[in-house]
Amino acid sequence: MAALIRVINGPNLNLLGQRPGQHYGQLSLSELESQLQSQALTLGIQLLCQQSNHEGQLLDWLHESLRDGTAGLILNAGAYTHTSIALADALEVIAYPVIEVHLSNIHARESFRHHSRLTPHVWGQISGFGPLSYSLALQALAQKLQLIPG
Ligand code: DQA
Repeated sequence: MAALIRVINGPNLNLLGQRPGQHYGQLSLSELESQLQSQALTLGIQLLCQQSNHEGQLLDWLHESLRDGTAGLILNAGAYTHTSIALADALEVIAYPVIEVHLSNIHARESFRHHSRLTPHVWGQISGFGPLSYSLALQALAQKLQLIPG
């Protein structure tokens, strides 16, 4: 059976393509997700892509992922990255590898974006490569889960 990896996007990421291009590029979320789906296919990964603007919904998906055999997670929590103790608490419970991704380089932007509440609870963070951040994360998870040679 193919490994199940989730891609969870948080608030305002449904507006990709309309948000400032210098930070987020031109791709829409559905274009980004379909590129990732093609990559997942070549890696033999089953990808579940989800987006919500609601913190509670993001939490419910994280909790669900503890019960459905999810093997890895790519998480862009958007602005909740910098604020959400609740998401940090949920990540603390998750044992499978989680990669925090950001399209923009959060360390090169306003100071309120420099701190992530999530990073202490994830395997690693990839920030600043635009849509490639997600692709690199998928590649890293495939190696971590030994689906491809590392
Ligand atoms: C973001 C960076 C966050 O600071 C911001 O609030 C977002 C997107 C990124 O992908 O670069 O919504 O997570």
